[in-house]
Amino acid sequence: MVTDYDSDPGRFAANQLATRRFNRRGDLHPDVAATLAAHGCRLVADIGGGNGALARSLAYYHIRAVVIDQAAHVEQAPRPAIRADASHLPFRGATFDAAAALWMLYHLAEPLVALREAHRLLREGGLLVACAPSRYNDPELAEVLPGWGEPRSFDAENGLDQIGAVFGQLTVERWDSPLVRIPNRSGLKLFLRGRGLSEDAASAAARRLTAPLTVTKRGMLAWARKT
Ligand SMILES: C[S@@+](CC[C@H](N)C(=O)[O-])C[C@H]1O[C@@H](n2cnc3c(N)ncnc32)[C@H](O)[C@@H]1O
Repeated sequence: MVTDYDSDPGRFAANQLATRRFNRRGDLHPDVAATLAAHGCRLVADIGGGNGALARSLAYYHIRAVVIDQAAHVEQAPRPAIRADASHLPFRGATFDAAAALWMLYHLAEPLVALREAHRLLREGGLLVACAPSRYNDPELAEVLPGWGEPRSFDAENGLDQIGAVFGQLTVERWDSPLVRIPNRSGLKLFLRGRGLSEDAASAAARRLTAPLTVTKRGMLAWARKT
């Protein structure tokens, strides 16, 4: 499924708010930024970087980020930020020390095209970091999430093979833990909006569920190198 965030701007805000309110572990941008800093990266392309969450974490380490996203919310990201499609990136090759594609490759019909573009942008030895949920993510919500359990274009089950088709030296961290606690029905609705349900569908689905609800997060974070 290709997602157009401009046609549903509320989804992005709901997802960020639900992550802040209900995740027991917080988001992974600070950890990714710390790892990029530890590898000595100075210039990072944040592809599908949204409103700049990773760029803000990178700023703490004085690492420059170029945020690239096709949706209007990229205007809220720290500069430089540009509106562009991950499949056609307007940069010379061998320019960046690292490229990030966090929580975004599953929105693309052809993630491999974007992975090849990320590869082109990187200098020799440059790092790619990408993450994605499992197709079996949020199992407690399986009955209300359309397509739950079906393969996505890039997910924790098929993503590593796709990265491996383009990059070398892969490492992966996987998780399968009860990381989210949603206290009440309005929280359920917010969470489901962030997962892409419309206002009406999220309200109806929240009524079918029982709160408080602990939700199991399943996904992967992969690192790879341009070799
Ligand atoms: C779930 S958000 C993740 C945002 C950010 N990477 C983060 O971790 O906060 C997915 C982002 O991918 C962007 N996106 C989806 N398809 C894209 C494409 N073809 N090119 C560039 N950005 C895209 C969306 O606009 C959205 O900002």
